[in-house]
Amino acid sequence: MGKRVFLITGIAGFVGHHFLEHILKNTDDVVVGIDSLTYSGSLERLRDIEIDPFHHPRFKYLSYDFRQPVGANFAQELQDVTHILHIGAESHVDHSISDPMRFVMANVVGTTNMLELAKMLPNLELFVYFSTDEVFGPAPLPADIPAGDDWNGYREDDTHNPKNPYAATKSAGEQMVTSFANTYGIPCIITRQMNIFGERQHPEKFIPKVINAVLNNTVVPIHATPDKKQAGMRHYIHARNVAHAHLFLLDKKPWIGAPPRSVPSYHIVGEVEIDNLSLAHIIADTVIRVGEEKGLKTHPLRYDMVDFHSARPGHDLRYALNGGKMRELGWSPPKNFHDSMVKTIEWSLNSPRWLKNSAL
Ligand SMILES: NC(=O)c1ccc[n+]([C@@H]2O[C@H](COP(=O)([O-])OP(=O)(O)OC[C@H]3O[C@@H](n4cnc5c(N)ncnc54)[C@H](O)[C@@H]3O)[C@@H](O)[C@H]2O)c1
Repeated sequence: MGKRVFLITGIAGFVGHHFLEHILKNTDDVVVGIDSLTYSGSLERLRDIEIDPFHHPRFKYLSYDFRQPVGANFAQELQDVTHILHIGAESHVDHSISDPMRFVMANVVGTTNMLELAKMLPNLELFVYFSTDEVFGPAPLPADIPAGDDWNGYREDDTHNPKNPYAATKSAGEQMVTSFANTYGIPCIITRQMNIFGERQHPEKFIPKVINAVLNNTVVPIHATPDKKQAGMRHYIHARNVAHAHLFLLDKKPWIGAPPRSVPSYHIVGEVEIDNLSLAHIIADTVIRVGEEKGLKTHPLRYDMVDFHSARPGHDLRYALNGGKMRELGWSPPKNFHDSMVKTIEWSLNSPRWLKNSAL
């Protein structure tokens, strides 16, 4: 197999930079990374990883905003690309509620531009569209699933039911991918992920927020049912496990033999589903334990169960994907949930600047 040349969009984002680290460490492949450095993208992430990508012979960074139409020069520069991993997006639900058009531009227009680019690349083998569990909308809480019903998360071909502009634009991006596969014969797959965690995550996300609360003695809002008895729940998976799943798919190519011009999709799901209150306790206990060893001042977890519908309209209490298809293909996350969560928390306590917005 010759070297693959990956074009990764959103390389300076949380997921993108983990893909870069994973690919440089585990393959001989080449990565071209593009990013426009929005509020959530930062080259500091790339500078912080173990392999210095800016002095790595198999990495090139290009500053680029994918909302602009692709020019011939840009396409010419990328002639060797064999795989586009379209990871970059606007991804914060709250921001999509206050400014939906920004999400249409980045996630629908931007995705269409990257598909236009795909048409111009003679060596392209695959376009991978990075999607989300949120396209399916809310999942029923386990207590609301009738006895005897074995529903266990949305499957790859279930109908979309997005409930907020972020989810709607990710779903629309999927439709553009499908249309380009059908109309122009671009080879595409769609992967959908659930909550991803790991090193250098934006401090606005739940795990760094809880770590900060235990260090600074502040209160964590936990989204819950209106009676405030049941916290929302999610599957969590470490970013490097997500990268591992993608390389597994790219090596195995399970779509070979699928009907031409169809777009196979795959759900990348961690092995543990947990409610947000239990997760907050795990994080707090770990911060307190590791904090004691390091002589850090910590505080017991303080939390407030918040009726999620009134607090955050457009947010859903539970998202759930069924990971059976990937399991049947033989994939399971190489690092388990508990170990990767503890490692992430220990890393955060050893790298406190990443708990502050100013790191980005
Ligand atoms: N993080 C999660 O838990 C999660 C879960 C499911 C799906 N996803 C999907 O994973 C992908 C990455 O998420 P993330 O958490 O890394 O997000 P992120 O916000 O950390 O990173 C997104 C990156 O895209 C870049 N970007 C945004 N608009 C751009 C543009 N117009 N041109 C060039 N670059 C642009 C940003 O600067 C940033 O570096 C997204 O597609 C998201 O929908 C993430």
